[in-house]
This record gives sequence, C-alpha cells and structure tokens, in this order.
Amino acid sequence: NLHVGVIGATGAVGVELINVMFDRNFPVGELTLFASERSAGKTVETKFGTKTVALFSVEEAKQCDIVFLAVSGDFAKEYAPKIAEGALVIDNSSAFRLNDDVPLIVPEINGDLAKTAKLIANPNCTTAIAAVALWPLHQAFGLKKVIVSTYQAASGAGQPGMNELREGLASGLEGKPVPAEVFAHPLAFNVIPHIDSFQDNGYTREEMKVTWETRKIFGTPDLPVSCTAVRIPTERTHSEAIVVETEKAVTPAQAREVLSKAKGVKLVDDPANNKYPMPLTATKQYDVEVGRIRSNLIFGDHGLELFVAGDQLLKGAALNAVQIAEASIA
Ligand code: HSE
Repeated sequence: NLHVGVIGATGAVGVELINVMFDRNFPVGELTLFASERSAGKTVETKFGTKTVALFSVEEAKQCDIVFLAVSGDFAKEYAPKIAEGALVIDNSSAFRLNDDVPLIVPEINGDLAKTAKLIANPNCTTAIAAVALWPLHQAFGLKKVIVSTYQAASGAGQPGMNELREGLASGLEGKPVPAEVFAHPLAFNVIPHIDSFQDNGYTREEMKVTWETRKIFGTPDLPVSCTAVRIPTERTHSEAIVVETEKAVTPAQAREVLSKAKGVKLVDDPANNKYPMPLTATKQYDVEVGRIRSNLIFGDHGLELFVAGDQLLKGAALNAVQIAEASIA
C-alpha cells in the first residue's frame, strides 16, 4: 500500500481526488494532506477518516510514494520538480503540460507513459473530456480537422467559482446585483465567451490549451484544432459541441459502434426519446456522455457532429489524475 500526499486537499479538485481514490479502492496505506500555513492544522472529514492538514514541506512530501498537486501553476513550477526527486508527482496545473520531458496523460489513450515518469501532467479539463470521445474516432477514421465549442461549468474556476455562481443565482432572483469577482462578468443568468487570458491570435489561453494539449496527447503535432470556450452557469460538468472532418468516410452508425465500445465513454444517443448528453445526467459520473452523433452538413460522409458532457471535477480533473496513478502502478 502506498503513502499518498495531496497538496490542495481542501479545494474542489482535492476533495474529489480523495473521494475518487476511496471509491476506486486505490491502494492508499497512508494519506497525508498538505496545505500552506493558512489551512495547516485544520481537520477535514474524508472518506479515509478525519485528517489533520499538515504544513507543506518539500522534505515531507518527498517521503510519499505519490503526490497529487491540486494547486496553482506557480506553486507547481517551484515545488513539483523537487518533490519528484522522491515521489511520483501528478500535477493538475498547466505548468508542465507542454514540456517535452513531461508526459501529458489521458489513461485511455497514453496510460503506458505513466509507468516510467516521475512528473506527470494532468490535462486541461476540456481537453481530457473531448479526448476520450475523439481518440476512438481518430483511431477508426483518422481526424483531419477538429472544431470544438464548449459550454464550461463554474467548477473550472474551483470552489470560489461554484460559490460565486450560487450566490449570483440567489442574488439575481432577489433582484440584487450579481457578483463578478471570480469571473470576468456575472455568470448567473449569463454566458461568458472568455475563459483565461486573451492571446495575440484572438483566442483565449483556455481555447489554445485544447489545441496544444490535444495535439500532444494524440501525438499529432499538426492536427488542426480550433476551439471557442464559453463559461455557462452550470455547476460542474463541461459540455462540448464537436465537429470533425475525417480521413476515411464514416457513417453515424459506424461512429456509434466505435464509441459504444470505447473506454471512458457512455453513449447517450437516442434523440427520438429525448436522450442526449447533458450536465444533469453526466454530473458525478465517471464516463463522458457522447451523443447527438450525425453526419456534418459541410464535410458530408467525411465528417461528424457530436455533443459530449463530462464531469469537470472527475474526468476533467480528479478521476483522470487517479487513473494516471493507477496506470503508474499497473
Ligand atoms: N480551465 C478550466 C476551466 C478548468 O476554467 O474550466 C481546468 O482545466
């Protein structure tokens, strides 16, 4: 059994990491929760029992077998390489995702890379959720172009984002001003086509992460991937409308057949009975829902449209991180 450390254990992702390890029977012998001075000493209830949060120290963290980082990129940049001298580090931030010597892993796709690495990057949530649906299609039909439009939940901005949405919905209903400290604008009763910072090319960094990270995970450095990332007032599931052009001809039935066998995917595609992916049904589920599969009117029989919904805190973060840890010891 392993000594597991979690840094950022009281954040939205950290809490789910602990839940997922417990629910999947990850072989945790000892669990140490680390935090800065602000939270050290607090006790938290977890599925592994009541834990007192320890003050973070590199030396203590290095003693663990596996350390999950669910904190900022700045913290990760400074400490992840040092902790990785002793422990396997699985980092949830974007700090190392594009480094050539750091694998970026979605276990359904490239889990083998977890066996030898000391520092592993967990992908951007939107990317990981799309990837589990796109990879089987890529293997079967070859992806030539990918266009993604996202509908991203408040949880992408962590617990403060979820709190701001709840407060905003309540305030708005009472006719009071809706807060906008976490998001660029009030999120309640709104959609915001702006996640992370704008880049020189007019895309946001969140949108470019989908391009950069999909290419790296798939090993397709030139694959054209374009994304529009939009924040919507749902709590914790990201949805995405995806259009692909394929190398080989593909029918919706063939795509459904491939996706019905794909790991990490739940096919929900029965429009006659109003069944399609939605945050309502995908929330707190491990599998990414995929549906609305149809031929695309522009690319014809060399293209598909699909809609996916995946829990941002699970496949988009904590579940994927724990699956990486599982792959590392498999
Ligand atoms: N950046 C993502 C979002 C979350 O804001 O929805 C994590 O990758």
